[in-house]
Amino acid sequence: PVAVYRDKETAAVKVAARIAAIIKRKQQAGEQAVLGLATGATPVGVYEELVRLHREEGLSFRNVVTFNLDEYYPMQPTSAQSYVTFMHENLFDHIDIAPENVHIPDGTLAPEDVAAFCLNYERQIEEAGGLDLQLLGIGRTGHVGFNEPGSAPNSGTRLVTLDDLTRRDASRDFGGKEYVPRKAITMGIGTIFQAREILLLAWSGKKAPIIKKAVEGEVSSEVPATYLQLAENVEFIVDAEAAAELT
Ligand code: F6R
Repeated sequence: PVAVYRDKETAAVKVAARIAAIIKRKQQAGEQAVLGLATGATPVGVYEELVRLHREEGLSFRNVVTFNLDEYYPMQPTSAQSYVTFMHENLFDHIDIAPENVHIPDGTLAPEDVAAFCLNYERQIEEAGGLDLQLLGIGRTGHVGFNEPGSAPNSGTRLVTLDDLTRRDASRDFGGKEYVPRKAITMGIGTIFQAREILLLAWSGKKAPIIKKAVEGEVSSEVPATYLQLAENVEFIVDAEAAAELT
C-alpha cells in the first residue's frame, strides 16, 4: 500500500509516532524493540521528531536495539561523511540509547574480514529477535540500502559496488565524485524482507520517477525496490510530489 501525505514534515511525524508505538509496546512487554535504520536526507525529519519525543514527551530508547542498513567501504567512523557520524549527529547523541545496542556496518575492516563481519551482522540481527521495523529510503537507481540494480532477492549483508549514479548523487557530500567510495557494506534484500514491517519513505519530485517504477513497474532486479511489491508488510510513504507520477 501507498500512503500519500501533504508534505514530508507531516509524514515524518506519522512515521516517528509508529516507531514510538513499537518502542512503548515492547517496553510494556519487557522486551527490546529492534529497529533497522537508514541514513541520507530522507529520514532526517523522522529522527528529529524522535528526538523531540524523547526530550519533550519522555520517550526512552533504553530498550531499543538498532541496525543500520549500510556504510561506505572503506570509511573511517570519524569521517564527516560516515554513516556513523550521520547517525550520531541526527539521532544517537540526542537520545538515551545504550551505545552497545547500536550496530552500523564497519567501514574499517580489512578485506579478508568483511565476509565474516557480514555473516555476524545477520546473526546479531537474529539474536536480537529480528527487525521489528525497517526504515528505507530509495535511491534514483532504485536501490534500497545499497542494493543496486542486479541485486538478488535473497541477498544478505555483503560488500557491494556502488552504481555510478549513486556516486554522482553522493558527490556533493564528498566534494566531488572521485572522493566517493566505490563500495559499501549493505544489508541485503533478503535481510530487509525478514523485517516484520518495512516502511519505504520518499519525498520530492526528484523521487517521483523512481517511485512510479518501484510501486507500479515490473518486478525486476533492474530496480531492486520493485522486490518490495512482493512483501506483505511493506508500506510506501510518500509526499505529494513523490507521488505525482503514480496512477
Ligand atoms: C541510506 C541508504 C540509501 C538511501 C537512498 C536515498 O542508508 O540506504 O538507500 O536511503 O540513497 O538517499 P536520500 O535519502 O539522501 O535521498
